[in-house]
Amino acid sequence: MNEDNLWWLKEDGYEARLHKHYEGLFTQGNGYMHVRGSFEEGCSDAPQDEEYLRFPDNVTLEKPRHPKSKQGTFIPGIVAQHPLLKEEIVNLPYMLGLEFRSGDEALDMDRCRISGYSRRLDLRDGRLHRSFLWETKEGMQLKCTYSRYLSMADTHLCIQQVQLEVLAGEGRLEVKAALRADVRTNGMNHFARVVPSAEPGDCISLETLTEEGNRIFMLSALEASEAVNWQAGHTPVMAALRGECRLNTGDRLTVSKLTAVTTDRDMEEGTVRDRALAQLSRARKLGREQLYNRHADCWKRKWQAADIRIKGDDAAQLSVRASIYHLIRSNREEDDRVAICAKGYAGEAYFGRYFWDTEINLLPFFLHTHPQAARNLLLFRYNTLDGARRNAQKYGYRGARYAWESSISGEEQCANWQYADHEIHITADIVYALYHYVRATGDDEFLERYAVDILVETARYWCDRVDWNREGEGELLSVMGPDEYLPFTRNNAFTNRMVKFSLEQTVACLDSLEDGKRDSYAAAAARLDIRPGERERFRHTAEKLRLPYDSRSDIVPQSDDFDSYAEVDFASVWTDRSRPFGHFISQERNYRSKALKQADVLELMMLFPQEFTRAQLKASYAYYEPITTHDSSLSAAVHGIVASWLGQKEAAGAFLQRVMDIDLSAEKKGAAEGIHIANCGGLWQLIVYGFAGLKSAMWSESIELEPRLPEGWEKLSFTLAWRGERYQITVNPDTYEVQKLNGGNLVAGTTV
Ligand code: BGC
Repeated sequence: MNEDNLWWLKEDGYEARLHKHYEGLFTQGNGYMHVRGSFEEGCSDAPQDEEYLRFPDNVTLEKPRHPKSKQGTFIPGIVAQHPLLKEEIVNLPYMLGLEFRSGDEALDMDRCRISGYSRRLDLRDGRLHRSFLWETKEGMQLKCTYSRYLSMADTHLCIQQVQLEVLAGEGRLEVKAALRADVRTNGMNHFARVVPSAEPGDCISLETLTEEGNRIFMLSALEASEAVNWQAGHTPVMAALRGECRLNTGDRLTVSKLTAVTTDRDMEEGTVRDRALAQLSRARKLGREQLYNRHADCWKRKWQAADIRIKGDDAAQLSVRASIYHLIRSNREEDDRVAICAKGYAGEAYFGRYFWDTEINLLPFFLHTHPQAARNLLLFRYNTLDGARRNAQKYGYRGARYAWESSISGEEQCANWQYADHEIHITADIVYALYHYVRATGDDEFLERYAVDILVETARYWCDRVDWNREGEGELLSVMGPDEYLPFTRNNAFTNRMVKFSLEQTVACLDSLEDGKRDSYAAAAARLDIRPGERERFRHTAEKLRLPYDSRSDIVPQSDDFDSYAEVDFASVWTDRSRPFGHFISQERNYRSKALKQADVLELMMLFPQEFTRAQLKASYAYYEPITTHDSSLSAAVHGIVASWLGQKEAAGAFLQRVMDIDLSAEKKGAAEGIHIANCGGLWQLIVYGFAGLKSAMWSESIELEPRLPEGWEKLSFTLAWRGERYQITVNPDTYEVQKLNGGNLVAGTTV
């Protein structure tokens, strides 16, 4: 296959029913801002300003609005309040607007005579290209070529270019460039004030004030290769420049739009307007070529650290690059006030909130490709510790309780009480991730400077949350584990093990600080007001917290009461396996049945592999997999990893396919509401932990591999950051190699 095809996500031929999926899949971003892959001219029959009230619902099963198109422009951190659903990231004004008209015919992919349509997103540099032939009613044949990108180097800039070449005919063509605020977020208008203006030198601006008081300034400069005589033409919610020109056969009209976006949340000084003007004038001085080179260099560096190369499976190659692309663009490495939301800033569906996905599914990728980004993601949790304290207080507990769905200030936003009240494992998952970071990077200082506050405060919460039984054991009652189809279980194995781990580490951290770093200990004790006896309480709770399993049972029970739930006759209930199981059963019945939404015990085994025997892994996989619906996109990758560890190549291959399809399969339209970013991290883990068999840095001091490549894979290679060094890993079907990138230190072995 041509090497380019291993870097391009493609859409050949336009189909309206798939458009929304491609809008999600082709989302572009640079950490600072993100835009969905919508058309510059929009779509007919797809209004963006429809107002409606979205109610609390199960997001996995909810029927989304906007079947054809939903544009999306997101800047992490710009949020507003939904009256029923709490905080949501604001869908900002649409900056991409470039519309063309010939006579009374507006260019539209559905209504015009379009042929040869194709789009491709180049994953190497994040540029989106579109080309097609437009045969206008007036008899012109126009070859139209679009390209656009959000600069990775100059993150406030969006750079667009359209070229129309007249292959036959002649006539007048109108152009309209717009910045439009007729945009709603989940049906809500969050804009308190919109000010469209014409600016000197063929520029327009749109200043938007959100209900929360955030100010967003968009400033576009237009350039055309032909004289189009731009004229301002605003409406109350749109800044626009219109122009027209006459074209003859052979003519080429090139229109460029350069937009600078600034907000009052940016960390730079000065008004939003002044900064946007400065950005634009700097960009114009740099010129198109330099702007592009700076951008492409940034992407290149990111790919050097993160690319995974697979020989022998082009579909997997492209798929993992698509995942890595979305992981890279979703991350804002220098801003620890935001993390990565569950839809990877590619849609409105999960309101831009932060879940355990970040710590458990995404973090490993960043730990081993870009440790600074991993640190930042964890600093976000440190920065939102006060929000977590308020959550604990609201529930009547001491300490800190992290939100199941976190706002940018850390407070609980989940509008469904089942999850908000019961899916408490997130608080311990964060501690697991803190350790993972420290172990993978060797950044021990992070523990004493930041993590210790989270450890102590969450330990206080756990001590209050635990109930004590007559045998003197601590229990966690009424808990939802990772499997969201059982909301009120007793002693969920995953949760209890995570909490025990979290308490154990708190004690160990305090012990070692007191022994080795008395100043740090004294500072932490004063800052956190650590009382005499508190550490003993943590230790006692850790020791006595019940685990609903032991080494005697091969099948690890998901919870103490798991066995008492009703069996499901899947064949009669789930009659169409292409749709989620949850569509075929009422929530009430689902909540009392043994049907898992996603990996739960297997997730536990993946995170604590050394604590389970192979017999337990095998028996638990054999028991749980058939009763797991995989209705959550977090499930398939974990199952693939476990299947690979068990040497079940066929099953592992089937899960790999499933993971790849989650966002990439157009037929399933998986990316329509946004990217399943946890699954992107899951694919990385499936390849690195599953197929290359890397032992997690949590439990291994050095790089240890136990590779099992899927059928047909001739070679797998990637670089890995590990404790301050970078390594090149190469796995062949029978052998593997680990080489330190700056020379020396070669480890080789044979695959299993
Ligand atoms: C899953 C959760 C996940 C959330 C956000 C849900 O469907 O069950 O585990 O955290 O989606 O991705």
